[in-house]
Amino acid sequence: MYRKVKGTQDFFGIEAKKLRHLEGIIRAVIEKFGYEEIITPIFENTEVFVRSSGEESDIVSKEMYTFDDKGGRSLTLRPEGTAPVVRAFLENKLYARRALNKYYYFGPMFRYERPQAGRYREFNQFGIEAFGASSPYLDADVIISAAEIFKALGIENIKLKINTIGDFASRAAYSALLKEHFGKGISSLCDDCARRLDRNPLRILDCKIDRDNPLLKNAPKIEAVLSAEAKAYFQKVLKILDASGISYEVDPNLVRGLDYYTDTVFEFILESDDELGGLAVCAGGKYSDLVRSFNGPDIPGIGYAFGIERIIAIMDKQNLFPDLASRADIVLISLDEEAKEKALLLARALRGAGFYAELDYQNFNLKPQFRLSEQVDAKFLVIIGEEELKNKQLAVKNALTKEQELIPETKILEYFKENLN
Ligand code: HAM
Repeated sequence: MYRKVKGTQDFFGIEAKKLRHLEGIIRAVIEKFGYEEIITPIFENTEVFVRSSGEESDIVSKEMYTFDDKGGRSLTLRPEGTAPVVRAFLENKLYARRALNKYYYFGPMFRYERPQAGRYREFNQFGIEAFGASSPYLDADVIISAAEIFKALGIENIKLKINTIGDFASRAAYSALLKEHFGKGISSLCDDCARRLDRNPLRILDCKIDRDNPLLKNAPKIEAVLSAEAKAYFQKVLKILDASGISYEVDPNLVRGLDYYTDTVFEFILESDDELGGLAVCAGGKYSDLVRSFNGPDIPGIGYAFGIERIIAIMDKQNLFPDLASRADIVLISLDEEAKEKALLLARALRGAGFYAELDYQNFNLKPQFRLSEQVDAKFLVIIGEEELKNKQLAVKNALTKEQELIPETKILEYFKENLN
């Protein structure tokens, strides 16, 4: 028996419906904010991710599914959606279409992480990217759109954490400050953090292992190196969120794991006591220099991504899915070869009229055909036997009332149009 690859999932039945159900709700919200769908390839040239996420990021240094194709090119299954969208934005000169460009995407992402609750090696994201304005109004509107999605899904107990990490110059200055600070107590840090000290000391701030280490609690704050402009920008974002009634917590330790961020960064975290508590359901931020670093024009961007599997898990826990089971309208039961042929033709006509019609393809006995109609929870059964064929009539049985009547073949569509909403 073959088994699925560790950290991947099969979606079938109700689980597949849940995924599509969410997609529908999210699409309806985000399209009202003016976002258009963009669909990019599942794999890209490896360089696209290395350049953007940063060589020292966890994603690039340990989590990418990278392989050489038969032409010797290094390709990578996308671990995230921002870099591919930026690549497509430039390659297709989408910036020439209009000043402000807003895109959204759904799709699978791949990261070689340790699988656990809410963490997979193949997972689905819904994300957005908006290009063309460096404005606290856009930042706030992006965050508002995420809050609207949580509201439309009905999800509660979500906390918004927000921070600013300033521009690249402030980040470099902050990195130097942190390096000095953490360098003093390196022996008290976990192995990962000791490694991060040289390469990316900002990441030590959001280490889960060293969370309670006093060295982290007493670390210098980004405020110390932020420019007056960056501080004013962030205050304005917060002011707009206040005016919009969006509550948040400023978390000076929130730095995010990808190198492309500048200024506003944020995460929506689930607050609960179970294994999902503390997980980020949606995360993102602004990236002023990413487009330029891909040799493009100087166009800022901002975006976020939701983890779809995490939304599903939370909605399951909070009981937010409606009944997604689909019931067949009609099951056609045939008692011989000739009737089976008639059943197939009739099913086609019924489907053409908008009904969900089902039939058994190989049995002529009643028992398996009744079993099928129970499995698909049919509302009506149509029974076709020798007698019915001869009289050009169909025996129609209401599965709920168990009443049965004979309907002339020519009247059958009309009958169901009347009796099925
Ligand atoms: P990220 O924080 O790496 O950001 O991922 C965004 C979200 O994807 C996470 O908050 C989480 O819900 C989900 N996620 C990440 N890894 C996994 C996993 N292994 N299993 C299940 N869910 C996962 C980004 O990807 C950025 N591209 C977001 C962004 C867009 N920033 C700007 N624009």
